[in-house]
Amino acid sequence: MHITMVGTGYVGLVSGACFADFGHQVTCVDKNVDKIAALRRGEIPIYEPDLDRLVESNARAGRLAFTTDLAEPVAKSDAVFIAVGTPSRRGDGHADLSYVYAAAREIATSLQGFTVVITKSTVPVGTGDEVERLIREANPSADVAVASNPEFLREGAAIRDFKHPDRIVVGVNEPRAKKALTEIYRPLYLNQAPIMFTGRRTAELIKYAANAFLATKITFINEIADLAEKVGADVQEIARGIGLDNRIGTKFLHAGPGFGGSCFPKDTRALIKTAQDFEAPVRVVEAVIAVNETRKRAMARKVAAAFGGSLRGKTIALLGLTFKPNTDDMREAPAIPLVTALQDLGASVKAYDPAGMEQARGELSDVTYCDGPYACAEGADALVIVTEWEQFRALDLPRLKREMACPVIVDLRNVYRSEEVIAEGFRYESIGRSSQNGHGI
Ligand code: UDX
Repeated sequence: MHITMVGTGYVGLVSGACFADFGHQVTCVDKNVDKIAALRRGEIPIYEPDLDRLVESNARAGRLAFTTDLAEPVAKSDAVFIAVGTPSRRGDGHADLSYVYAAAREIATSLQGFTVVITKSTVPVGTGDEVERLIREANPSADVAVASNPEFLREGAAIRDFKHPDRIVVGVNEPRAKKALTEIYRPLYLNQAPIMFTGRRTAELIKYAANAFLATKITFINEIADLAEKVGADVQEIARGIGLDNRIGTKFLHAGPGFGGSCFPKDTRALIKTAQDFEAPVRVVEAVIAVNETRKRAMARKVAAAFGGSLRGKTIALLGLTFKPNTDDMREAPAIPLVTALQDLGASVKAYDPAGMEQARGELSDVTYCDGPYACAEGADALVIVTEWEQFRALDLPRLKREMACPVIVDLRNVYRSEEVIAEGFRYESIGRSSQNGHGI
């Protein structure tokens, strides 16, 4: 099938490359001339493992092309996906749909023959209706069906998530659209990935409900972690103890410094706004956002507590800055409020991140960036593990101790076992595990 993907951000680029890999003929369109020129040279604008190889092999095979001109590929496409950004609108937290609507209007005038236009961007309920209205207004004779196909991929595991999804959700209002989407996803369908057809509004809400539920799960275990610390229990054992109940499940129960990223914060805010507009408030999600924001700031106090509350004159070394490993994305990363709060408490901050330092420079000021974890630890009064990159999981602890001015590790991702770190002569603080707690035998 011929597919046009409008937008070459995370979702657009990964989906476009994967659809091409399924054997479809894909053209990715973006208004950003430099980005398209770079993609044509095989340069990938985002950090995503294996995406460069996937783009390169499919471009070479002639199945994946990049252009700034939307009209030509749209005219010959069976399906046009809208995968442009839906950031939080400044001031009110609503999703900003201006890019989605602009894309819909532009697509409308180039449509030829029956085409399915599909929103893949995360969009509030009713956006599909408005996209359809705009297309029909701009091109009353267009033979078009509008569908919703939310994307559930995670940064850092995007290709795997796309090719091995837990499910594919498609919201359609007519059989021809269902047939086209079935054909597009046939390779996954053959792989047993469940494909679920719903109404368009339901599909739109499924995406927000999924993200809000996962954010709630994380926030729940984070609060249990705080309680576990106070009462001398171990949050990791609690997570396993509740997660083994199939009704709960073990995933997304890893306590940490609070969720960040390009989706959970923005999508939970947008869900709250939609719910308020329809006078069906989602109070649980409102609480999740409030708790998560407070938590990010509270992480600095956890570091300060190791020094009796004040960090004046102390040097704090941060390992990891991105909101999670395997990405260079700093959006809403817990490291941002953490750095500001540490500085407010009087600390000097050094940092090392395997991929995020360039992006971090735009977000953080007065941070000394280092070449690696040991250079970062040099002369530090405390080392804080902020993001659980693989390379921080087996640090040479005696070497770290020699580099540091004071042997204190604050592990916000519970990467280490307390006993092993304490045995090396460190003071060790982690999340939801009090140092005195007794372990089961
Ligand atoms: C998320 C959703 O998982 C994905 O389905 C959706 O399409 C986009 O949003 P992403 O933002 O890439 O994906 O990352 P994810 O792995 O979900 O992590 C989000 C945040 O939650 C990170 O800050 C991560 O550190 C945090 N997290 C995740 C936890 O603190 N604990 C967990 O157990 C899981």
